[in-house]
Amino acid sequence: MSTNTVIAIDGYSSCGKSTLAKALARKLHFIYIDSGAMYRAVTLYFLREKINLHDHAAVEQALKNIHLNFNSRDYQSHITLNDEEVSEEIRQMPVSDNVSAVAAIREVRHEMVRQQQRMGRSKNIVMDGRDIGTTVFPDAQLKIFMTADPNVRAERRYKELVIKDPNITLEDVFENIAHRDYQDTTREESPLVRAKDAIILDNTNLSPDEQLQFALDKLSALLEP
Ligand code: CDP
Repeated sequence: MSTNTVIAIDGYSSCGKSTLAKALARKLHFIYIDSGAMYRAVTLYFLREKINLHDHAAVEQALKNIHLNFNSRDYQSHITLNDEEVSEEIRQMPVSDNVSAVAAIREVRHEMVRQQQRMGRSKNIVMDGRDIGTTVFPDAQLKIFMTADPNVRAERRYKELVIKDPNITLEDVFENIAHRDYQDTTREESPLVRAKDAIILDNTNLSPDEQLQFALDKLSALLEP
Protein backbone atom coordinates (compact mmCIF):
# COMPACT_ATOMS: atom_id res chain seq x y z
CA MET A 1 0.00 0.00 0.00
CA SER A 2 1.27 3.46 -0.85
CA THR A 3 1.99 5.78 2.05
CA ASN A 4 2.36 9.02 0.17
CA THR A 5 -0.04 11.91 0.69
CA VAL A 6 -1.81 13.69 -2.15
CA ILE A 7 -3.63 17.01 -1.76
CA ALA A 8 -5.95 17.84 -4.66
CA ILE A 9 -7.12 21.43 -5.14
CA ASP A 10 -9.72 22.13 -7.80
CA GLY A 11 -11.90 25.08 -8.59
CA TYR A 12 -12.86 27.93 -10.87
CA SER A 13 -10.46 30.15 -12.79
CA SER A 14 -8.37 32.62 -10.81
CA CYS A 15 -9.72 31.82 -7.39
CA GLY A 16 -6.36 31.40 -5.70
CA LYS A 17 -5.77 27.68 -6.11
CA SER A 18 -2.12 28.09 -6.90
CA THR A 19 -1.54 30.52 -4.01
CA LEU A 20 -2.90 27.95 -1.58
CA ALA A 21 -1.20 25.01 -3.28
CA LYS A 22 2.22 26.70 -3.20
CA ALA A 23 1.81 27.72 0.45
CA LEU A 24 0.83 24.18 1.44
CA ALA A 25 3.73 22.66 -0.49
CA ARG A 26 6.20 25.04 1.14
CA LYS A 27 4.84 24.43 4.62
CA LEU A 28 4.65 20.63 4.29
CA HIS A 29 7.73 20.17 2.03
CA PHE A 30 5.55 18.55 -0.62
CA ILE A 31 6.09 18.78 -4.37
CA TYR A 32 3.81 21.35 -6.04
CA ILE A 33 2.43 20.60 -9.50
CA ASP A 34 0.46 23.23 -11.41
CA SER A 35 -1.60 21.14 -13.84
CA GLY A 36 -3.01 24.30 -15.45
CA ALA A 37 0.52 25.28 -16.52
CA MET A 38 0.68 22.03 -18.49
CA TYR A 39 -2.52 22.80 -20.43
CA ARG A 40 -1.27 26.35 -20.95
CA ALA A 41 2.09 25.16 -22.32
CA VAL A 42 0.36 22.76 -24.71
CA THR A 43 -1.84 25.67 -25.84
CA LEU A 44 1.21 27.85 -26.47
CA TYR A 45 2.73 25.11 -28.64
CA PHE A 46 -0.55 24.66 -30.58
CA LEU A 47 -0.79 28.43 -31.18
CA ARG A 48 2.79 28.70 -32.36
CA GLU A 49 2.49 25.67 -34.65
CA LYS A 50 -1.03 26.65 -35.80
CA ILE A 51 -2.44 23.23 -34.95
CA ASN A 52 -6.04 22.73 -36.10
CA LEU A 53 -7.85 21.67 -32.92
CA HIS A 54 -10.33 19.56 -34.92
CA ASP A 55 -7.62 17.55 -36.68
CA HIS A 56 -7.11 14.56 -34.37
CA ALA A 57 -4.05 13.25 -36.19
CA ALA A 58 -2.35 16.66 -36.03
CA VAL A 59 -3.19 16.97 -32.33
CA GLU A 60 -1.80 13.52 -31.57
CA GLN A 61 1.38 14.20 -33.53
CA ALA A 62 1.83 17.56 -31.79
CA LEU A 63 1.45 15.91 -28.38
CA LYS A 64 4.31 13.55 -29.27
CA ASN A 65 6.52 16.56 -30.02
CA ILE A 66 5.79 18.31 -26.72
CA HIS A 67 8.06 17.73 -23.74
CA LEU A 68 7.07 19.44 -20.52
CA ASN A 69 9.14 19.72 -17.38
CA PHE A 70 8.69 21.41 -14.05
CA ASN A 71 11.54 23.03 -12.24
CA SER A 72 10.21 23.01 -8.73
CA ARG A 73 12.62 25.53 -7.19
CA ASP A 74 11.01 27.71 -4.50
CA TYR A 75 7.71 25.83 -4.80
CA GLN A 76 6.79 27.98 -7.81
CA SER A 77 5.59 26.57 -11.10
CA HIS A 78 8.43 27.10 -13.53
CA ILE A 79 7.64 25.03 -16.59
CA THR A 80 9.64 24.35 -19.71
CA LEU A 81 8.24 23.50 -23.12
CA ASN A 82 10.84 21.56 -25.10
CA ASP A 83 13.52 23.02 -22.81
CA GLU A 84 12.36 26.64 -23.25
CA GLU A 85 11.26 28.45 -20.09
CA VAL A 86 7.67 29.57 -20.87
CA SER A 87 6.31 30.33 -17.38
CA GLU A 88 5.69 34.01 -18.19
CA GLU A 89 4.34 33.62 -21.70
CA ILE A 90 1.72 31.02 -20.78
CA ARG A 91 0.01 33.51 -18.41
CA GLN A 92 -0.59 36.10 -21.15
CA MET A 93 -3.98 36.64 -22.76
CA PRO A 94 -3.42 34.81 -26.09
CA VAL A 95 -2.91 31.58 -24.15
CA SER A 96 -5.68 32.35 -21.62
CA ASP A 97 -8.12 32.96 -24.48
CA ASN A 98 -7.45 29.55 -26.06
CA VAL A 99 -6.52 27.22 -23.21
CA SER A 100 -10.00 25.99 -22.33
CA ALA A 101 -10.67 24.92 -25.92
CA VAL A 102 -7.39 22.99 -25.97
CA ALA A 103 -8.08 21.49 -22.53
CA ALA A 104 -11.42 20.16 -23.79
CA ILE A 105 -9.71 17.89 -26.36
CA ARG A 106 -9.84 14.25 -25.28
CA GLU A 107 -6.35 13.33 -26.54
CA VAL A 108 -4.84 16.32 -24.75
CA ARG A 109 -6.52 15.42 -21.45
CA HIS A 110 -5.53 11.76 -21.64
CA GLU A 111 -1.89 12.63 -22.18
CA MET A 112 -1.79 15.29 -19.44
CA VAL A 113 -3.55 13.04 -16.91
CA ARG A 114 -1.12 10.21 -17.71
CA GLN A 115 1.85 12.52 -17.06
CA GLN A 116 0.28 13.96 -13.89
CA GLN A 117 -0.39 10.52 -12.42
CA ARG A 118 3.19 9.53 -13.13
CA MET A 119 4.53 12.66 -11.40
CA GLY A 120 2.48 11.94 -8.31
CA ARG A 121 3.27 8.27 -7.98
CA SER A 122 4.69 7.52 -4.53
CA LYS A 123 5.47 11.17 -3.74
CA ASN A 124 3.89 13.68 -1.38
CA ILE A 125 2.31 16.23 -3.68
CA VAL A 126 -0.07 19.15 -3.91
CA MET A 127 -1.65 19.46 -7.36
CA ASP A 128 -4.12 22.12 -8.45
CA GLY A 129 -6.43 22.14 -11.45
CA ARG A 130 -9.96 21.25 -12.49
CA ASP A 131 -10.13 17.45 -12.40
CA ILE A 132 -7.50 16.49 -9.84
CA GLY A 133 -9.87 15.19 -7.16
CA THR A 134 -12.24 13.59 -9.67
CA THR A 135 -10.00 12.07 -12.36
CA VAL A 136 -6.27 12.41 -11.73
CA PHE A 137 -6.18 11.41 -8.04
CA PRO A 138 -9.65 10.21 -6.99
CA ASP A 139 -8.02 8.67 -3.88
CA ALA A 140 -6.34 11.90 -2.71
CA GLN A 141 -6.37 12.17 1.09
CA LEU A 142 -7.45 15.84 1.06
CA LYS A 143 -9.60 17.39 -1.66
CA ILE A 144 -10.43 21.08 -1.65
CA PHE A 145 -12.85 22.73 -4.05
CA MET A 146 -12.16 26.47 -4.24
CA THR A 147 -14.47 29.24 -5.20
CA ALA A 148 -14.71 33.02 -4.79
CA ASP A 149 -16.88 35.89 -5.95
CA PRO A 150 -16.30 36.41 -9.73
CA ASN A 151 -15.67 40.16 -9.33
CA VAL A 152 -13.06 39.55 -6.65
CA ARG A 153 -11.41 36.89 -8.81
CA ALA A 154 -11.23 39.24 -11.82
CA GLU A 155 -9.76 42.06 -9.73
CA ARG A 156 -7.08 39.82 -8.25
CA ARG A 157 -6.05 38.46 -11.66
CA TYR A 158 -6.19 41.94 -13.27
CA LYS A 159 -3.74 43.29 -10.68
CA GLU A 160 -1.28 40.49 -11.53
CA LEU A 161 -1.57 40.91 -15.31
CA VAL A 162 -1.62 44.71 -15.66
CA ILE A 163 1.94 44.93 -14.30
CA LYS A 164 3.17 43.11 -17.40
CA ASP A 165 0.58 44.36 -19.89
CA PRO A 166 -0.66 47.93 -19.20
CA ASN A 167 -3.17 47.69 -22.08
CA ILE A 168 -5.19 44.98 -20.41
CA THR A 169 -8.59 45.95 -18.95
CA LEU A 170 -10.56 44.59 -16.03
CA GLU A 171 -13.37 43.76 -18.47
CA ASP A 172 -11.03 41.61 -20.62
CA VAL A 173 -10.01 39.66 -17.55
CA PHE A 174 -13.56 39.28 -16.25
CA GLU A 175 -14.78 38.01 -19.62
CA ASN A 176 -11.91 35.57 -19.95
CA ILE A 177 -12.58 34.09 -16.52
CA ALA A 178 -16.34 33.80 -17.15
CA HIS A 179 -15.76 32.19 -20.54
CA ARG A 180 -13.24 29.68 -19.21
CA ASP A 181 -15.51 28.75 -16.31
CA TYR A 182 -18.30 28.10 -18.80
CA GLN A 183 -16.10 25.99 -21.08
CA ASP A 184 -14.50 24.09 -18.19
CA THR A 185 -17.81 23.17 -16.52
CA THR A 186 -19.68 22.22 -19.71
CA ARG A 187 -17.07 20.19 -21.61
CA GLU A 188 -17.69 16.46 -22.14
CA GLU A 189 -14.34 15.15 -21.01
CA SER A 190 -13.85 15.38 -17.20
CA PRO A 191 -15.60 18.72 -16.68
CA LEU A 192 -14.91 20.88 -13.65
CA VAL A 193 -17.15 19.51 -10.94
CA ARG A 194 -16.75 19.19 -7.20
CA ALA A 195 -15.76 15.69 -6.11
CA LYS A 196 -18.35 14.40 -3.62
CA ASP A 197 -15.74 14.21 -0.88
CA ALA A 198 -14.15 17.62 -1.57
CA ILE A 199 -14.30 20.33 1.07
CA ILE A 200 -15.56 23.67 -0.24
CA LEU A 201 -13.39 26.70 0.41
CA ASP A 202 -14.81 30.10 -0.53
CA ASN A 203 -11.93 32.53 -0.14
CA THR A 204 -13.72 35.76 -1.17
CA ASN A 205 -13.07 37.21 2.28
CA LEU A 206 -10.06 35.18 3.38
CA SER A 207 -6.41 36.20 3.39
CA PRO A 208 -3.79 33.78 2.01
CA ASP A 209 -2.75 32.96 5.60
CA GLU A 210 -6.33 32.23 6.64
CA GLN A 211 -6.93 29.88 3.72
CA LEU A 212 -3.65 28.10 4.44
CA GLN A 213 -4.68 27.58 8.06
CA PHE A 214 -8.08 26.29 6.94
CA ALA A 215 -6.43 23.65 4.72
CA LEU A 216 -3.84 22.66 7.35
CA ASP A 217 -6.60 22.17 9.94
CA LYS A 218 -8.59 19.97 7.55
CA LEU A 219 -5.52 17.94 6.71
CA SER A 220 -4.56 17.27 10.31
CA ALA A 221 -8.15 16.31 11.14
CA LEU A 222 -8.13 13.83 8.24
CA LEU A 223 -4.74 12.33 8.98
CA GLU A 224 -5.33 11.93 12.72
CA PRO A 225 -5.63 8.27 13.67
O1 CDP B 1 -4.78 29.96 -12.89
P1 CDP B 1 -6.12 29.87 -13.56
O2 CDP B 1 -7.20 29.55 -12.59
O3 CDP B 1 -6.42 31.04 -14.41
O4 CDP B 1 -6.09 28.66 -14.58
P2 CDP B 1 -5.06 27.46 -14.73
O5 CDP B 1 -5.08 26.60 -13.51
O6 CDP B 1 -3.75 28.01 -15.19
O7 CDP B 1 -5.74 26.60 -15.90
C1 CDP B 1 -5.89 27.13 -17.21
C2 CDP B 1 -6.94 26.32 -17.95
O8 CDP B 1 -6.45 24.97 -18.12
C3 CDP B 1 -8.29 26.16 -17.28
O9 CDP B 1 -9.20 27.22 -17.55
C4 CDP B 1 -8.79 24.83 -17.86
O10 CDP B 1 -9.39 25.04 -19.11
C5 CDP B 1 -7.52 24.05 -18.06
N1 CDP B 1 -7.25 23.05 -17.00
C6 CDP B 1 -7.92 21.85 -17.06
O11 CDP B 1 -8.77 21.66 -17.92
N2 CDP B 1 -7.63 20.86 -16.16
C7 CDP B 1 -6.73 21.06 -15.21
N3 CDP B 1 -6.46 20.06 -14.36
C8 CDP B 1 -6.07 22.29 -15.09
C9 CDP B 1 -6.35 23.30 -16.01
